[in-house]
Amino acid sequence: MMRGLPLSVLVLGACAGDPTGGDPPPPSPPDGAEVFRTSCAACHGPDGAGTADAPQIQSPVAGYATFVVRQGRGIEMGYRTEMPAFGTDAISDDELAAAIAFLGAAPHPTTGMDLYLRYCGNCHGPTAQGGRVGEGIAREKRSEVFEKVREGHGGTNYGSRKKYMPSWTTAELSDADVTSIAAYLATLPKPPDDDDDDDDDDD
Ligand code: HEC
Ligand code: HEC
Repeated sequence: MMRGLPLSVLVLGACAGDPTGGDPPPPSPPDGAEVFRTSCAACHGPDGAGTADAPQIQSPVAGYATFVVRQGRGIEMGYRTEMPAFGTDAISDDELAAAIAFLGAAPHPTTGMDLYLRYCGNCHGPTAQGGRVGEGIAREKRSEVFEKVREGHGGTNYGSRKKYMPSWTTAELSDADVTSIAAYLATLPKPPDDDDDDDDDDD
């Protein structure tokens, strides 16, 4: 058995049958890192930290990430290529779950800015001035940040650009993490189109 081939090549080889005979390889749990490197890394970077062609996708919300991989995505975020859809023929459910677990094992960010960029920035923009969901959240009240992070928005309506926000448990994002994010947001300029007065910014 040759080592180091992409998983998809091994699977194809197995399907085509091995002309030299021999038993089929024993089932082994999919290697998430291998799946990711084979199917995703070319665009999202070797560890999912993002490239000029695709956003960072570390610490994904599993249901949402699964939806995006199965459905694909347009170019709403402004990258030059679309996110292709991958069916179960290309990546099995187990392989996808393993790739998502690999992304989830990335080191947890420690600063408010890095937490923001990992968990929020794809939607709310790199400096919270608004992004593809159109909401700037710089200077948002701490209580509002906590409420949204714990409750999310839109349930599992993953396909709705303007109506879906994930929720995170305290195991995923601790209260200290959310406090850091809120403190970071407080240092950023107020979004230009944000004319509500509920952020205690009276000067
Ligand atoms: C050809 C390049 C390409 C490949 C290959 C690719 N992606 Fe993507 N991916 C993108 C682009 C571009 C986007 C942003 C799409 C948009 O504008 O919404 C994206 C978006 C995503 C998102 C949503 C990010 C967010 O915050 O909304 C997830 C999750 C994702 N990709 C996971 C994966 C996984 C897992 C794989 C491998 C199975 C993969 N991608 C393979 C280009 C790619
Ligand atoms: C997948 C996209 C997505 C991600 C990731 C995301 N949000 Fe949101 N967020 C939304 C959407 C969509 C809304 C608007 C919901 C609505 O219609 O009220 C929203 C609204 C909010 C609001 C309320 C803004 C207002 O003016 O009412 C806050 C605060 C917020 N998000 C904070 C966060 C924080 C903090 C994070 C990261 C921990 C985060 N969001 C990650 C999509 C996202």
